[in-house]
Amino acid sequence: MCGIVGAISSQNVVPVLIQGLLRLEYRGYDSCGVAVHVQGGLQRARGTSRVAELQAQIEASGFAGATGIAHTRWATHGVPSVDNAHPHFSHGPGEHAGEGPGRIALVHNGIIENYDILRTELQERGYVFRSQTDTEVVAHLIDSLYDGDLLRAVQAALPSLKGAYALAVFCKDEPQRLVGARAGSPLVLGVGPECSSLYLASDALALTGVTDQIVYLEEGDSCDLQTGQYAVYDKTMRPVASRSRPVLTVHPPGSSTDLGPYRHYMQKEIFEQPRAIADTLQGVERIDANLFDGKEEAADAMLRSVDSVLILACGTSYYSGCVARYWLEAIAKIPTQVEVASEFRYRECVPNERTLVVVISQSGETADTLAALRRTRDLGMRRSLTICNVATSAMVRESRLAYITRAGVEIGVASTKAFTTQLAALFLLTLVLARQRNRLDDAQCAEHLRAARHLSAAMQAVLALEPQIMAWAQDFASKEHALFLGRGLHYPIALEGALKLKEISYIHAEAYPAGELKHGPLALVTSAMPVVTVAPNDALLEKLKSNMHEVRARGGVLYVLADADTHIDSEEGLHLIRMPEHYGALSPLLHVLPLQLLAYHTACLRGTDVDKPRNLAKSVTVE
Ligand code: G6P
Repeated sequence: MCGIVGAISSQNVVPVLIQGLLRLEYRGYDSCGVAVHVQGGLQRARGTSRVAELQAQIEASGFAGATGIAHTRWATHGVPSVDNAHPHFSHGPGEHAGEGPGRIALVHNGIIENYDILRTELQERGYVFRSQTDTEVVAHLIDSLYDGDLLRAVQAALPSLKGAYALAVFCKDEPQRLVGARAGSPLVLGVGPECSSLYLASDALALTGVTDQIVYLEEGDSCDLQTGQYAVYDKTMRPVASRSRPVLTVHPPGSSTDLGPYRHYMQKEIFEQPRAIADTLQGVERIDANLFDGKEEAADAMLRSVDSVLILACGTSYYSGCVARYWLEAIAKIPTQVEVASEFRYRECVPNERTLVVVISQSGETADTLAALRRTRDLGMRRSLTICNVATSAMVRESRLAYITRAGVEIGVASTKAFTTQLAALFLLTLVLARQRNRLDDAQCAEHLRAARHLSAAMQAVLALEPQIMAWAQDFASKEHALFLGRGLHYPIALEGALKLKEISYIHAEAYPAGELKHGPLALVTSAMPVVTVAPNDALLEKLKSNMHEVRARGGVLYVLADADTHIDSEEGLHLIRMPEHYGALSPLLHVLPLQLLAYHTACLRGTDVDKPRNLAKSVTVE
């Protein structure tokens, strides 16, 4: 989703801004732009194609500057167009539309909810709007409050803004100054050697190779960057002591962002899963609550004190929570609810202060999940745990316990290795809660842990089935609809398989618990509707077989993932892939792999942009 980079230095900052945008590209965007301070004014370049083309445009025009901001935009208010792309410039009453670049340059992540009212007020005062965005009002508003001190103008504007924002702003009249502010959207400050250069970014990743010295701004903070010094202010606009916004050394994420021999990041990430699981479980010698780092109190005491679990997440992370519910109730015998974060945050619920709130997120910055976590806190549910792939993310910082998955940076918009590593962490949580409640003895825990450690090898064996999946993908590539069926623990895997297929191949795909087939989706089954069935050898297999007969009897074509010793055979209308081994409770981590590969190869055959599917973003930092 939208990305921000800003820099102030004694040198030309354009290469740093472009590098930063390239690092944020994977999050998804539909336009991009850069603005710098040049002798006597502001200059910008914007475009609706890729950052590489923007870079070529800039190199051709040769603009350079020592203060600048840059942005990748993911359209919310206003179509993707050059006029709507950031940076936006203010156009005050003295400047006529079409003339001059104005005084304030600004980039924004988030959504200004009251932009309509502000726009009308500013228009009445003579401001000229050139875009349909909510962002442009902020540039004009700051301009209207500017009296020679940019920080003061930004801070004066903030109370009028409703919604979420991360801002980076500079002004024509103060070339050596960059101002930032955040509320509801992440923003970090990067510090170069002796403050000789200073940076702003929506994610520290954008500054990889530039600086590893990062200050995480907190809710409501604003900051003032001037060559050689910076200052941070809290939501009351008072200066904040450096010890409460310390400079942290942030190491770039573990795995490299090079594609290596792979065609797409998604493919690379699918094949990295055995390594990612091994890394995530590395150092787990025994089942112990201390696996879940506690900040304020021992994790053991907190986890012992809970009587239920509430899991909140979005997208693929939500489906990992759905799998975990089966484990938590079946193994740890602890009542568990799972809810989509965007729904939870707005509904009236009955809070239980002894509930363990678990938020799951690859990025740790998803707006709805973060808001849901905050809402639980406001409701008095203070026992919180984040399972996350980014140790420095807002969710990790704002919850009391955390488990950091070690998937490494995930670039493909469609999540793969983050999902399976989340499952590994959730399985450990299940074992910890089960052991504390004497639902498992030490020997049983050790047996589960042994199975978890063997997962990497088991995953390798499943990934070796790729040629068979590619043959399935040939059939799927010409279809417009697909149905996914699963039961029990594998119903969420069917949901995840359908999500993967729709995200990247644009084939309409739906998942159902197979028992629901007769209650609706069977009406859709024809020979044109492939039906993927996740059929491990578990207690529900015989029931699932009956559902498969129902499909065959209507001429539907089945694509079945079965275990090695299952009595299902290929026949006309039934395509079978046998999984190498049955894997008990951890079977979802294996069954999801062929479904990821099916989506991937189908998308390749359809020629879609696999890593950056249309309209989607990697990190959804707005509602
Ligand atoms: C977006 C991504 C998905 C991801 C979801 C939740 O929709 O495209 O891949 O599952 O956000 O993201 P999170 O970072 O919270 O796991």
